Amino acid sequence: MRKILIVGASSAIAEATARIFAARGDSLYLVGRKADLLASIAADLKVRGATAVGMETMDANDLTAHEAMLGRAEQTLGGLDTVLIAHGTLSDQKGCESSVELTLHELTTNAISTVALLTRIAEIFERRKAGTIAVISSVAGDRGRQSNYVYGSAKALLTAFLSGLRQRLWKSGVAVITIKPGFVDSPMTAAMPKGGPLWAKPQRVAAGIVDAIDRSATVVYLPWFWAPIMLIIRTIPERIFRGLKL
Ligand SMILES: NC(=O)c1ccc[n+]([C@@H]2O[C@H](COP(=O)([O-])OP(=O)(O)OC[C@H]3O[C@@H](n4cnc5c(N)ncnc54)[C@H](OP(=O)(O)O)[C@@H]3O)[C@@H](O)[C@H]2O)c1
Repeated sequence: MRKILIVGASSAIAEATARIFAARGDSLYLVGRKADLLASIAADLKVRGATAVGMETMDANDLTAHEAMLGRAEQTLGGLDTVLIAHGTLSDQKGCESSVELTLHELTTNAISTVALLTRIAEIFERRKAGTIAVISSVAGDRGRQSNYVYGSAKALLTAFLSGLRQRLWKSGVAVITIKPGFVDSPMTAAMPKGGPLWAKPQRVAAGIVDAIDRSATVVYLPWFWAPIMLIIRTIPERIFRGLKL
């Protein structure tokens, strides 16, 4: 049974993933910004079979709060062997184009806060020579597009950071997993028109995340068909790509 910290635990994808862990009897420490929401998710996870559920409120952008939170997670669960980082915001691309502040805020939420967390967690797991770190990046990080390149570049930073971290920690027996979902029907995409074969439910992505954690995968596209789609997107020459309306 795992002892799992989830940052961004109120996310639809994270909650669906936590439900699978709970049904297996894992112990969970939930971190998010909304106390009421976390409390109701925690109660539900207990009913579903979680051995223990702890929680605390934290804004991931408060980098000074990370260290103490990690200590409390360890203490509450009696150890920590798995971390899932799931928080994020779909940036207002148009707003970012005229606001340095908003752009930097979005980069902090979607990349810098996670880099800060990973730096601390990596140190702990490397010292112990054990552990699993899974982070939700995105297919958007595979190539910058005019419609969402602030969000996409934050996810690209995460993807590259995780790649390096995976190499560093491999010899210590620590697994680092990059999760790259495509379109997921969650509150994050509430404003987008939905439907069609490219859209997935959070439950489908959650099953893929748990499978990736169980087999210590490296990089996973969820659902799987995003791997060939992004291969094609990445191979389009820049001279053609710059004129596309994507
Ligand atoms: N939905 C998609 O199509 C899609 C595709 C690819 C990747 N992803 C990634 O999947 C992850 C989960 O997203 P989702 O689809 O499940 O969306 P979601 O339900 O909207 O979840 C996003 C979560 O991030 C939390 N969050 C935002 N800023 C935070 C901060 N500063 N500190 C702490 N928590 C913060 C939100 O908490 P509050 O409730 O407090 O706002 C919310 O729980 C994200 O990393 C997202 O980028 C999503």
